[in-house]
Amino acid sequence: MLKEQFFDRIVFNFPHAGFHGKEDENWVVNHQTLHARNTRSGGLQTENKWVVVAMEGETRVADVKKIKHYWSSHKILLVGEGDFSFSLSLARAFGSGANMVATSHDTREMLETKHETAVGNVEEIEKLGCLVLHGIDASEMSENEVLKPMKFDRIVFNFPHAGYHTRWEHQKYQIKLHRRVVKGFFKNAGLMLEKNGETHITHKIAYPFCKWKVEKLAQKSGLILKEECIFSREDYPGYINKRGDGRRSNGTFPVGKCSTFKFKIANEDWMKN
Ligand SMILES: C[S@@+](CC[C@H](N)C(=O)[O-])C[C@H]1O[C@@H](n2cnc3c(N)ncnc32)[C@H](O)[C@@H]1O
Repeated sequence: MLKEQFFDRIVFNFPHAGFHGKEDENWVVNHQTLHARNTRSGGLQTENKWVVVAMEGETRVADVKKIKHYWSSHKILLVGEGDFSFSLSLARAFGSGANMVATSHDTREMLETKHETAVGNVEEIEKLGCLVLHGIDASEMSENEVLKPMKFDRIVFNFPHAGYHTRWEHQKYQIKLHRRVVKGFFKNAGLMLEKNGETHITHKIAYPFCKWKVEKLAQKSGLILKEECIFSREDYPGYINKRGDGRRSNGTFPVGKCSTFKFKIANEDWMKN
């Protein structure tokens, strides 16, 4: 029953291994083992299936599930979702969405007209415990009342796009609009990351999309590229990348050559102070 539950505080008063004999060396070892289990911290990034999450000397053991770059032990913020099929793919893999906040730029009403598949997907992730927010602008999200007090291990924006303002993706004006969205996203995401957190953008890398120069935009917000990984939609069962705008908003598009760019805070020491 406790397997799917997450807690802010887990309390164990007077931990004690029991009275197994005299207070000799073995007794001390038993208690030390228990104590070590109760106070180990920073276990979130280990490769173990079993991870100890310790907060202020308190402990919790969780069965961590993983899908591609994402772990059920990560606090994940999803930005600019289309029909929420990416969030759902993660939540299904984790068996829970309790570690996730999934957001759309569209209001709930707009979403329903743009994506007929969104309603069912949102209902399912909410049932799995995911917090869903609508009308969230990536360039202002750090000031949002609900998101403001939160910090995340992973902040993810798949295929950011400012909408179809001209017919041609290579036009300077169109690229300028896209870059403005991405720049605003990085600026806000940088403020919302936990220590060792990462901001991920999945983006096409062929011309004219390479003209967005996402790495440069990230640098302007104090983020540096940690890794660039080839993106494959098959890694996320059920995910259908959406156009998100125009007459065919619920349509998908060929991803072609594209990558997931992982950025981290350039200077964690500076962030700590
Ligand atoms: C190409 S679609 C991708 C949708 C979704 N991420 C996916 O992979 O299916 C681009 C998305 O960016 C969103 N978007 C545009 N401007 C935004 C902004 N300022 N903040 C957050 N999302 C934005 C749109 O609502 C649209 O859903």
